[in-house]
Amino acid sequence: MIELLPDTYFAPLDLLTIFGREGPLHVDLGCGDGDLLCELARRIPHGNFLGIEKLAGRVAKACRKSAHLENVRVLHVESAYAVRYLLPEGSVQTFYLLFPDPWPKRRHHRRRIVTTDFLDAIHRALGETGIFQIATDQPDYFHQIREAVENHRGFDKIEPAAALPSTKFERRFIQAGASIYRLSLRKTSPVT
Ligand SMILES: C[S@@+](CC[C@H](N)C(=O)[O-])C[C@H]1O[C@@H](n2cnc3c(N)ncnc32)[C@H](O)[C@@H]1O
Repeated sequence: MIELLPDTYFAPLDLLTIFGREGPLHVDLGCGDGDLLCELARRIPHGNFLGIEKLAGRVAKACRKSAHLENVRVLHVESAYAVRYLLPEGSVQTFYLLFPDPWPKRRHHRRRIVTTDFLDAIHRALGETGIFQIATDQPDYFHQIREAVENHRGFDKIEPAAALPSTKFERRFIQAGASIYRLSLRKTSPVT
């Protein structure tokens, strides 16, 4: 894997040039050290995998871990910006948002990434019937996400939610005795 350094951060990514081939695009938002990215890239060799991560140290780790995988790229950028401005419309087969920063204090809730605007951007970037996988250990954040999704009208819930390879933070939370809350969504109608 190579860290992806786009020519510009002010135009949609040229995915064909970046991956050197066509393929269903999977995007891990806040990919951390890249565990999930690497495991999925091994399991789905025909898929193209893009990790998005805001911390440089984690980008470097994800790059090291995926060094032997040709279908992985990691981009050092803020997720909401990437979804809104860098991913071409209809280009993504599956988004993963696994254990987003929880911002548990009430006065910090507005920093949480899942908002109506964020869901709009996810909806735009997803291809027809594209999938959005979400997991958190925070019950109140989960409730907030479910409410935002129900008010959005652009997604259907898939029941039961998909079982995905476990991530580093998931293992950490489970060891600490936390419950894990999951949501699998499929893009439906265009949002008007
Ligand atoms: C709790 S960790 C989860 C990491 C990984 N998804 C996992 O499950 O092991 C959250 C990750 O998202 C990254 N992150 C949080 N907010 C972000 C944002 N707005 N844009 C990009 N990365 C973000 C953090 O730096 C961190 O690596």
